[in-house]
Amino acid sequence: MEIKEIVKEKYGQAALRVTTGGSSCCGAAASLDCCAVDPITSNLYDAEQAGQIPENAVLASLGCGNPTALAKLNPGETVLDLGSGGGIDVLLSARRVGPTGKAYGLDMTDEMLALARENQRKAGLENVEFLKGEIENIPLPDNSVDVVISNCVINLSADKDRVLREAFRVLKPGGRFAVSDVVVQGEVPEAVRRSMEMWVGCIAGALHDDEYIGKLAKAGFDDIDIEPTRVYSIEDARQFLTGEGIDVDAMAPRVKDKFRSAFIRAVKPTPKECCGPACCS
Ligand SMILES: C[S@@+](CC[C@H](N)C(=O)[O-])C[C@H]1O[C@@H](n2cnc3c(N)ncnc32)[C@H](O)[C@@H]1O
Repeated sequence: MEIKEIVKEKYGQAALRVTTGGSSCCGAAASLDCCAVDPITSNLYDAEQAGQIPENAVLASLGCGNPTALAKLNPGETVLDLGSGGGIDVLLSARRVGPTGKAYGLDMTDEMLALARENQRKAGLENVEFLKGEIENIPLPDNSVDVVISNCVINLSADKDRVLREAFRVLKPGGRFAVSDVVVQGEVPEAVRRSMEMWVGCIAGALHDDEYIGKLAKAGFDDIDIEPTRVYSIEDARQFLTGEGIDVDAMAPRVKDKFRSAFIRAVKPTPKECCGPACCS
């Protein structure tokens, strides 16, 4: 509960900063809490994508990747964005699936939902719905979604197994899981890992890539793949880690190339056709 409350407060404030004319970040050198994340959230969307949606949706972007650029989305499909924030990936998905498709955004923070709905209104998109709720308990029926996307949210959850089970439940057979998230590769000293996670904003802990694969497989997914999209250098986090009392120069070799944003794909298998009493039991 405590993690959820911290996350809600942090993202509620970020949404209000955008609503009151700022950006979700308050400047590269300003307070560590919201701004040292710049190397993670900046330059994720190209001008062509940014031109398709309201400016406030771009300003509110707090992801660590660009799932709609990497996911295959077809006209007529239903997409669900877990932790939709100001709505950037929902609005981009809605344009891709077109008027015969639908894009849902799910978020637990009222201020983010208000900002996302305002962005939807400005974008004039009717095939969009923002739902209030938690990604650990998705308010949609079984087998109702073609693609689950997410952008730097699953790493915030204290119960990632449950999130992945829920994603699996709502996906149709053959449905795709296509999310951006922060992952850790290799061994990292615990104190540094905790501080790096605070730096990237992953309060509940980024998963090791092997753990992520294991959890997806346990939830029932097939065809699992993790593709790194951005690798963070210790220099990106130097100021923050120094403030945390960590000797950055001593730690640098042990952290090098270990924290990354990645695009994670998986597929919900389609049940095999039953071909007779002998093969289907
Ligand atoms: C890092 S921001 C990412 C927002 C958006 N995906 C983007 O790319 O800009 C995290 C968002 O996820 C929401 N969130 C975090 N944990 C959540 C949970 N357990 N259930 C629902 N929403 C959650 C927060 O309210 C916030 O809007």
